[in-house]
Amino acid sequence: MKFPIKYRLLKKNINLILGTLMLIVVLMVILGGCQLLRGEKEQTDTSEQENLIVVGVSQLGSESGWRTANTESVQRVFTKENGYFMVFSNARQRQENQIKAVRSFISQRVDYIVMSPVVETGWEIVLEEAREAGIPVILMDRGVSVRDKELYTTQVGSDFVAEGEKAGLWLETYLREQGRAEDTINIVMLKGTQGSSAQIGRTAGFNTIASEHAEWRILGQEYGDFTAAKGKEVMELLLQKYSDIDVVVSQNDDMTTGALEAIHEAGRTTGVDGDMIVISFDAVREGLELVRDGVINVDIECNPDQGEYISEIISRLEAGQEVDKKYYVEEHVYTIDNVTEELLRERTY
Ligand code: AHR
Repeated sequence: MKFPIKYRLLKKNINLILGTLMLIVVLMVILGGCQLLRGEKEQTDTSEQENLIVVGVSQLGSESGWRTANTESVQRVFTKENGYFMVFSNARQRQENQIKAVRSFISQRVDYIVMSPVVETGWEIVLEEAREAGIPVILMDRGVSVRDKELYTTQVGSDFVAEGEKAGLWLETYLREQGRAEDTINIVMLKGTQGSSAQIGRTAGFNTIASEHAEWRILGQEYGDFTAAKGKEVMELLLQKYSDIDVVVSQNDDMTTGALEAIHEAGRTTGVDGDMIVISFDAVREGLELVRDGVINVDIECNPDQGEYISEIISRLEAGQEVDKKYYVEEHVYTIDNVTEELLRERTY
């Protein structure tokens, strides 16, 4: 039987609608299945995490070779194999990013917060929030300046004041050995990130020794942000301003490499046989190689391997044990006399 054309069109449309509906149902079933699978996966991840210690790490940035080594040291230790789940955040030198990261760790209810504070001040409010949430905060590398020390649990890092003093004491001995103890000595200083405990401590430590020497004159001090580029830039300025620099104190190896470029481009020489004494901090491999080659005179070590110490502290806290307020890492002073090929081979950073 032949249907009228109107009826045939209607039948065709109904088939089309039914087909589309069936397709939608099939798609929904497939999507629902996927959702279910994803849900199951999420549940597995969560239950996996439940047996792990969750640590939120707020690193301040990646400005230097030292910083990279410091980050790697926590990444090495906070692994699933070691019983940890790490949430990592890089603040790119901005305190507000660190504050955001800490708040996000609090809302994620991490078990511990590890933070390397970019500067010393301005932490009270967010540390109070962590305390109210009952999350212990472990400071790594740099410190904070807060009235209530109970706002954080402990700190693992360097004694920056002692590092600065070591630099001053080394210079004192070196000048004496060189028969220059009575000479006027012109010094310039390249300082790290303004307001950071590394900058504040190293400056204070060096200045304490300098204050005992009326013959030492600190001609100029500039902030080089702990980076090679800024180190070069500020050294160029200092060279333009002062033609009679005897000593460069540069508060990290990255700024030192930048400063050396500026000094050598200006036709001046440095190090053991040069006309400028160079004092650096960190003692990463690149710095130590410059010491071995006699290009810089001394490198005051700042030890970035802090992950193991922090993990040990967490184990103690997990066991309900008391921990000290401060743990200093071991650090040495390197000159051409004790930088051996073996030391360079074994240096992991
Ligand atoms: O806080 C430690 C200092 O910060 C290191 O000396 C420097 O290299 C880093 O950027």
